[in-house]
Amino acid sequence: MSTHPDLDDRKVTTHRLLEMKQSGMKIAALTAYDATMAELLDNAGVDLLLVGDSVAMVVQGLDTTVTVTLENMLYHATLVRRGVKRALVVGDLPFMSYQINSDEALRNAGRMVKEAGVEAVKLEGGQVVCETVRRIVDVGIPVMGHLGLTPQSIHKFGTYQVRARDQEEADALRRDAESLEKAGAFSIVLEKVPAELAATVAKERSIPIIGIGAGPDCDGQILVSHDMLGLYTRFKPRFVRRYAKIAENMTGAFADYVADVRAGGFPSMDESYE
Ligand code: KIV
Repeated sequence: MSTHPDLDDRKVTTHRLLEMKQSGMKIAALTAYDATMAELLDNAGVDLLLVGDSVAMVVQGLDTTVTVTLENMLYHATLVRRGVKRALVVGDLPFMSYQINSDEALRNAGRMVKEAGVEAVKLEGGQVVCETVRRIVDVGIPVMGHLGLTPQSIHKFGTYQVRARDQEEADALRRDAESLEKAGAFSIVLEKVPAELAATVAKERSIPIIGIGAGPDCDGQILVSHDMLGLYTRFKPRFVRRYAKIAENMTGAFADYVADVRAGGFPSMDESYE
């Protein structure tokens, strides 16, 4: 049950997200990797929970998302699904689980739905993945695209800088967005691109465009939960707004516990058994 006064408790579907775009109601999306956090996010009224391959960085302690496996994603998606009643749960297809051929992509998307219970999958890329998107959508699995900065290609880009600043790349991105929509994608994440370009794409496309570092004029926003909570503090991109200082709070709590244990102040007799 949602605790947010403006929200109804209807299950969020891809159709509902489309209605939100059409009515101008912004979509609030965040990432989730486990059941406890998913339940909190769901209760707060987040519309879409992405089980992102960012799990590699903010949970597994790796430097990129490239090495996370399909088995890892299935595990985390299964946990998230258990915590959610209202939000749409989208599972990231990890690097090399959909690029080899569309048969393999279809099999892996199917595993995410059947074994982990996600309601949609996300994959990165434009025209090059459109045949795969079409095949996955054709069997009944909604697909979310991801354009702009696509972290699975970090070794090709070499940097996490803003994408599509020049006209050629911006034009290519607009064509990719059109191709993804035509292939049947229900939504597209647009990461780290100029705000004006993102606004143009959101206007041109009839499916919801969800921005991350893509300015205010997208149809919705997504952030990595550990970033916006101030839980992951190794670095902070400019587009991240920290809504809490969880790392500081947690470190303080752990230090208080250590001090109590050392001083014999924990446990008290109230926390013990006769
Ligand atoms: O994996 C992830 O968290 C993502 C978001 C950054 C959109 O793809």
